[in-house]
Amino acid sequence: MRMNAIETKNLSLSYGETLIINELDLKIPKGEITVFIGGNGCGKSTLLRSIARLLKPKSGSVLLEGEAIAKLSTRKVARKMAILPQSPVAPEALTVLQLVKQGRYPHQTWLKQWSKEDEKKVNDALKATRLEDLKERTVDSLSGGQRQRAWIAMTLAQDTDIILLDEPTTYLDMTHQIEILDLLFELNEKQKRTVVMVLHDLNLACRYAHNVVAIKDQKVYAQGKPEYVINCNLVKAVFDMNCEVTIDPIFGTPLCIPYGKGRCILDKAVVMNG
Ligand SMILES: Nc1ncnc2c1ncn2[C@@H]1O[C@H](COP(=O)(O)OP(=O)(O)O)[C@@H](O)[C@H]1O
Ligand SMILES: [Mg+2]
Repeated sequence: MRMNAIETKNLSLSYGETLIINELDLKIPKGEITVFIGGNGCGKSTLLRSIARLLKPKSGSVLLEGEAIAKLSTRKVARKMAILPQSPVAPEALTVLQLVKQGRYPHQTWLKQWSKEDEKKVNDALKATRLEDLKERTVDSLSGGQRQRAWIAMTLAQDTDIILLDEPTTYLDMTHQIEILDLLFELNEKQKRTVVMVLHDLNLACRYAHNVVAIKDQKVYAQGKPEYVINCNLVKAVFDMNCEVTIDPIFGTPLCIPYGKGRCILDKAVVMNG
């Protein structure tokens, strides 16, 4: 039987009286890459935060490898799961190295303080995100993309089986976007880590995800392999966008081409369609 890294049961999330997610039953398979997609404000970040226990459910529960997360110690949760939130803020004057080292806190105890292993994990994370030369810089002096990589490095240094990332490629140029996604792909392939992330780029989502979860109207609208889930009807329903879905010539995954309204694209689209 396929084991689930995370499961939500009848999960409802709200801010005050406003319901965001309604009675959600979601299974996130262990050892796979799952990507949440959906329009702005549909609740992707809210859901991810509740999975990481940063937001208390209104009702229902989140299970982490079968155990109710609400009952686990903070340390246990932090050793199993790392989260990169959507817009993290670093304390002023914190250096990249200091930030990345924070990823190791859950692994330290009163008896076992900073160890060789901690050092190695921090160095590995800096290397993987190509931040070795920037490690003495303060986080607030970095460009948006460098800063994003520093946060990703901290998340990697935590060295958890489950990694949650909310739009990890925001602020990154094309090269760094692919670099980060390839890195997560590699962590999944080689070390079987479970990756759960929110991505805006539907085509990259299709390329990297084993499992996409489309969210709409406080519910899961569709879930499964990108090739089964992503089609023009789904894109219309979830993003209210007319598009053509074709096959990525290199990766063989669904490739979504939005029509839009400009540049006489509509005429071409009509020709293409038939
Ligand atoms: N801290 C908050 N307090 C009140 N409302 C919030 C808060 N955070 C998000 N929301 C609202 O909840 C909805 C879902 O937000 P979010 O989960 O951030 O969406 P997404 O990540 O899919 O864009 C939005 O309408 C947003 O305005
Ligand atoms: Mg969000």
